[in-house]
Amino acid sequence: QVVDCKGLHVLPGLIDPHVHLRDPGDPKVETIGTGTKAAVLGGLTAVFDMPNTSPAITDRARLDAKRDGLAGVAHCDVGLYVGATKTNIATLAELEHQPNVCAIKVFAGSSTGDMMVEDDENLERVMRAGRRRIAYHSEDEYRLQARKPMFTPGMPHRNHMVWRDVECALLGTRRLMALARKTGRPAHILHVSTAEELDYLSGFRDIATCEVLLNHLTQTDEAYDRLGGYAVMNPPIRDARHLEAAWAAVRDGRVDCVGSDHAPHSREAKERPWPTTAAGLTGVQTIVPLMLDHVSAGRLTLPRLADLMGTGPARVYGALNKGRLAVGYDGDVTVVDMKRQRTIEESWIVSPCGWTPFAGHRCTGWPMMTIVRGNLVMREDEVLGTPVGRPVAFSDTARA
Ligand code: DOR
Ligand code: ZN
Ligand code: ZN
Repeated sequence: QVVDCKGLHVLPGLIDPHVHLRDPGDPKVETIGTGTKAAVLGGLTAVFDMPNTSPAITDRARLDAKRDGLAGVAHCDVGLYVGATKTNIATLAELEHQPNVCAIKVFAGSSTGDMMVEDDENLERVMRAGRRRIAYHSEDEYRLQARKPMFTPGMPHRNHMVWRDVECALLGTRRLMALARKTGRPAHILHVSTAEELDYLSGFRDIATCEVLLNHLTQTDEAYDRLGGYAVMNPPIRDARHLEAAWAAVRDGRVDCVGSDHAPHSREAKERPWPTTAAGLTGVQTIVPLMLDHVSAGRLTLPRLADLMGTGPARVYGALNKGRLAVGYDGDVTVVDMKRQRTIEESWIVSPCGWTPFAGHRCTGWPMMTIVRGNLVMREDEVLGTPVGRPVAFSDTARA
């Protein structure tokens, strides 16, 4: 098939390395089918899916079932995280060697699901139970618990960032970096959200890679007043100082990946009073348009975007293509129109939960085609053909 790309930009297939597709779990909110459809509509050729599903992906049987369930269902390629828990540590070394596992994921602060490993002893056991780069949700559970009594039901949503404060994130990151040094195990710090962590991590570039989220590059704390519960996520949206620090780190190469942390919840769960509001925002369908808009605004270049959303995740997680450490070189292509202006509308969102925190946001730059391993799967808002997505393969030994 011949496609005309006159006037368009052709990028290596873009990856969202951080999504929660809720499968198995809650089809009223999202499934692999709907979440990957959203992904290709939004210009992504692969997503890496988090394990805090219901039930969680914490053992071999559930991992195998999930991988086998992708065929004929997923519209883009899918990498799979496996979750660490206090009770599966002895099995993690075997699990991380399964070919479609992008990383073992550790939650060190409570969030959706029940997968916490928050104490030093168990965290060290997890760090010693394998060799590949570990993916880490860095918040400090003890800090959260200690501060909890200060916050009462029905307080404004803005208290979310007061509760889960800078210290909470920094303590989590410091704790893991101490263990990374002690054990020699490389780490990937997910969703770094503070200027302080970015400064601190500069001293660990030999052993730690990191991700920042589209939301932390796009929204500041005024979002709580505008969006209420639809601004609540972990780690929280913060003030402009942190957003500026995140951009500085993106530009000078201290950030390896940008992800959406797509975390759909029902409208009912998002509209509950704080602090019972479910934490997490949708984003898999909107990350590419919004990053292109940032390119148009001069905040980064298209080659840097291709690095952050293509080669970056491949390098961090050791994604393989025909045995080589790469993605996007076997016909994974995202074609974008940098002149196209379009407003994000809620009616465009295909996730069953049906909302986006970015409704009404006008973007300059839009994904026009998504090509997965040579298959044209999206062209101008139309999803084409039957689902061709496959599990992504990862290197067993990559520690890059
Ligand atoms: O806001 C969040 N939502 N942060 C997480 O760590 C989990 C996620 C979810 O799964 O809802
Ligand atoms: Zn997280
Ligand atoms: Zn997440």
